[in-house]
Amino acid sequence: MTIMTASFANPKNDAASIERRVQALLAEMTLAEKIGQMNQVNASDEDMPHHLREAIEAGRVGSVLNQVDVDTVNELQRIAVQESRLGIPLLVGRDVIHGFKTVMPIPLGQAATWNPDIVREGARVAAREAATAGINWTFAPMIDISRDPRWGRIAESLGEDPYLASQLAVAMVEGFQGDDLTDAGTIAATAKHFAGYGASESGRDYATVNIPENELRNVHLPPFKAAVDTGVVSLMAAFSDLDGVPATGNEFLLRDVLRDEWDFTGFVVSDWDSVRQLAIHGLTEDDRESVYQAVTAGVDMEMAGQSYVQHLESLIDEGRIDVATIDAMVANILRAKFRLGLFEKPYTDPRALPPIANEHALDTARQAALQSAVLLKNDHGVLPLSANKLKSVAVIGPLADAPYEQLGTWIFDGDRELSITPMHAIHSLVGHEVDVRYLRAMDNSRSRASEAFDEAEEIARDSDVVLLFLGEESILSGEAHSRADINLPGDQAELVRRVKAAGKPVIAIIQAGRPLTLTNIIDDVDAILFAWHPGTMGGPAIAELLFGVESPSGKLPVTFPRMVGQIPIYYSQKNTGKPPSPETVVLIDDIDAHAPQLSTGMTAYHLDAGFTPLFPFGYGLSYTEFDYQDIRTSAEEVGLGDTLTVSAELTNVGDFDAEEVVQLYVRDLVANVTRPVKELKGFRRLRLESGQTVTVNFELHTSDLAFFGRDMKLINEPGKFHAWIGGSSETQLRTEFRIIDGD
Ligand code: BGC
Repeated sequence: MTIMTASFANPKNDAASIERRVQALLAEMTLAEKIGQMNQVNASDEDMPHHLREAIEAGRVGSVLNQVDVDTVNELQRIAVQESRLGIPLLVGRDVIHGFKTVMPIPLGQAATWNPDIVREGARVAAREAATAGINWTFAPMIDISRDPRWGRIAESLGEDPYLASQLAVAMVEGFQGDDLTDAGTIAATAKHFAGYGASESGRDYATVNIPENELRNVHLPPFKAAVDTGVVSLMAAFSDLDGVPATGNEFLLRDVLRDEWDFTGFVVSDWDSVRQLAIHGLTEDDRESVYQAVTAGVDMEMAGQSYVQHLESLIDEGRIDVATIDAMVANILRAKFRLGLFEKPYTDPRALPPIANEHALDTARQAALQSAVLLKNDHGVLPLSANKLKSVAVIGPLADAPYEQLGTWIFDGDRELSITPMHAIHSLVGHEVDVRYLRAMDNSRSRASEAFDEAEEIARDSDVVLLFLGEESILSGEAHSRADINLPGDQAELVRRVKAAGKPVIAIIQAGRPLTLTNIIDDVDAILFAWHPGTMGGPAIAELLFGVESPSGKLPVTFPRMVGQIPIYYSQKNTGKPPSPETVVLIDDIDAHAPQLSTGMTAYHLDAGFTPLFPFGYGLSYTEFDYQDIRTSAEEVGLGDTLTVSAELTNVGDFDAEEVVQLYVRDLVANVTRPVKELKGFRRLRLESGQTVTVNFELHTSDLAFFGRDMKLINEPGKFHAWIGGSSETQLRTEFRIIDGD
């Protein structure tokens, strides 16, 4: 046994020294050891199986995933470092998606904060906690643009918009990876799933994806480009088929775009067994051919499948794959291990890291939950409640006291014991002044048993106000948990009607992993606070919002449809040749009997849904009112390559000190390819005291308006633009400017 670690360890971690060490190490490696680095093995068993120990010792494993017992992880590292011939440490991967033990809101909820600072801090907390278990690599952030709420994985996404998702993707990568990946408590991030997975047909998970290249480049790739530019260590290839070529075998994505255009120097991991799935897709005949395709396309590491280990060597022997290709791929993986400082510090001492669920972690989770909740409706200012004006509050519903469900999907390590539920939080906040009466009413969100509804109605009648906790259990969203019907599941709508019949104000607090079609309950409730799955500290955040300790300030990162048939519905649609307007819309009930078909005046809308969503992207109410005035630009014209300022005056004209997310949208009126009717180009979360006015300035460089044209190249064209500033994508406060050719 040779212990080589020391010779490759070097505290100087600049890129040049890393490159030298990568090459020196590669020169020492046998082909089998190289292939070993490309192999990631599931190590979730509690007892470390003998074959895993042997495989690591023989240098046939580059990474493990799903082992979170720190002693076991340290032992695995010890075998890799001290017992394998070259002493190469392991990447230890885990899905740390929105927290480790302390759980932040689901990523879609975090996106509703529109706050990169809190998102960054959430990832930082998650990284520190995960690092205590020896995890050095997470499979997050998931940055698939998601415009289909049926898709269960929309919960894991940062929503529908390329700009918002890019900004938050950067924040998450920064949070996980810190300033220096060798620092304790930082872990490597993975931008996933590259690319287009969010556009699965009908929102059915793993389904086919067809995205024209222009849309791929303008909409789906920007968050990945942003993550790459931020130094994300790895990318994960998607399960899905993109225009006939599954991402795991897609050379265009993994080589042409990622390596040649973006100069990515990190590594690409497959998704779980997605190399072998190439044969199931029908792209290849067998596993061996799948390995050929995946390696040729540029998948550096295979997750879970073992087919690289089985077939790669013979493909190289036959000369179908050359060693130089393998060397480059292994170098990508080794580079990551050096960047992480694993050669210097392969082991984990949890005591050297901050304790799990410490005050800062819980406070970050609380802040994130506070800022993520979106107030969708608040008739007659029914919210906020004032405890001193109430005698009793009814707390009803399957999600009022559901510590596990509030955590949401992908919480392998999330600790439900840490959860503070809304019911408990409401008790602690106002229980000393107000009589809080709790009834679960339904076993779970899908229940069809309505025996308790009489009692619910009775409690509602005897109380001053009803807080109705509705939504989806966590298992109804996430991977492979798509729904075709996105109404509130089970008999919840009936529960709403029964409670409403009691005649008291009804406030619905909805926890869910996706936008829901709320059309069938919206008129029966006075207010709706949409809290997503808010995580460990969801309860206190919700209680504080309901009782006005803070004002809601979340804004929708995704459009809420009125009905499923409108999907996909998103704000940055194209205008079409027949854009709808209120004047052109005649809904189904307004059509005269025997009305003849006309060929004039017809526009793009649904007879039964119109053309507007239930709630638009960027929308969210507050306890105060924000007034926007005087939008203007610093000049009427801006030369290509220059910067323009777009400004507006924002006043808090209500009585409540509160935060507002100010949004800047732009439309390129005429272009080489048709452009969306509105595109988000800037946003800022600001706190304004009641009565306060601020000037909000957005700097817009003309390159921020570049887009991919017909030849799939990024172009910047002169021409006329509209710009809007406001509190949602439906803002009407508009100005215009022109980009002129600088020469
Ligand atoms: C998911 C990935 C995840 C991986 C490992 C796959 O099924 O698609 O997002 O990182 O499993 O758990």
